[in-house]
Amino acid sequence: MNFLGAHILSINQFDTQDVERLFSIADQMQPYAHRELKTRVLEGAILGSLFFEPSTRTRISFGCAFNLLGGQVRETTEIKSSALAKGESLYDTARVISGYSDIIVMRHTMDGSVEEFSKASRVPVINAGDGSAEHPSQALLDLYTIKKELNIEGEINGLNIALVGDLKYGRTVHSLCKLLKLYKNISFTLISPSELKMPKDIVDDLLKSGHEVNETENMETGLGDKHLVYLTRIQEERFNNQEEANTYRGRFRLNQSIYTAHCEPDTVIMHPLPRDSRAEANELDNDLNQHPSLAIFRQADNGVLIRMALFALTLGIEKDIHLTSNKVNWYTDRRF
Ligand code: CP
Repeated sequence: MNFLGAHILSINQFDTQDVERLFSIADQMQPYAHRELKTRVLEGAILGSLFFEPSTRTRISFGCAFNLLGGQVRETTEIKSSALAKGESLYDTARVISGYSDIIVMRHTMDGSVEEFSKASRVPVINAGDGSAEHPSQALLDLYTIKKELNIEGEINGLNIALVGDLKYGRTVHSLCKLLKLYKNISFTLISPSELKMPKDIVDDLLKSGHEVNETENMETGLGDKHLVYLTRIQEERFNNQEEANTYRGRFRLNQSIYTAHCEPDTVIMHPLPRDSRAEANELDNDLNQHPSLAIFRQADNGVLIRMALFALTLGIEKDIHLTSNKVNWYTDRRF
């Protein structure tokens, strides 16, 4: 794909070469994300950050990524703080905000809303999550993490992965399946309540691409023999009411004793976060926090690298980043 000036709306836009190109730029971002070097390559540029749905990681890591490249961020959070609450259309919002910004990152509750917004935007738009549809930058940082955790150079063919939880509404697993589909001989075990299964079109696409798919409600048997287990939260915000969400909460949990009994000793544990740590859910127990195979915080850290790389490629500055770089002059030691 031609990244320059492109909207990044769906993982379907990417092929394996695009992914490798993005990952190679992400690798080059490490000294900046790790606060060894600073750059001013995007000095004067403005990111319009529109999060019309709650976010911690995606909003802040996109903002940090832009700041780390030397740019500035202007934020709107929540529909009620924007003119959308007064009946303004996505079209008008896009026309206006794209006059103030060089690039826009947007999250919204409705499937397809970011694409609709992008059609009226005069600058590139990156989808930071639209309803239960897609979360492309998350899938890219997930695959980047998978490769790092499993020490895979090049393509990730032959992976054996379990996806667990709310596979119906979880946009991260939808985008991740679309991305993994590009590779070969992947065995997917999809563990969910029968009412929250992966959408049929995504499963059909995986099968058509030659992958193996097993769907089950039995977590214990589903976890065996996996390189990787990817847990997800029950997406309570997509349900008609809390009671309905409550019927699924806590159905699938991973803790140290379940891991020891059913996973390989080095099965990598991933989760896009947030994990629901309330007692009635506790889908990924704190007793695994010190486990060396728990990758969830390294995964979240990788979000900055991937988002820096997306900005670098869409704004065409990937070759210029090091031209204005200097060592940082503040205390940067991280405790862990
Ligand atoms: N993974 C993810 O999208 O997290 P946030 O909702 O905190 O952005």
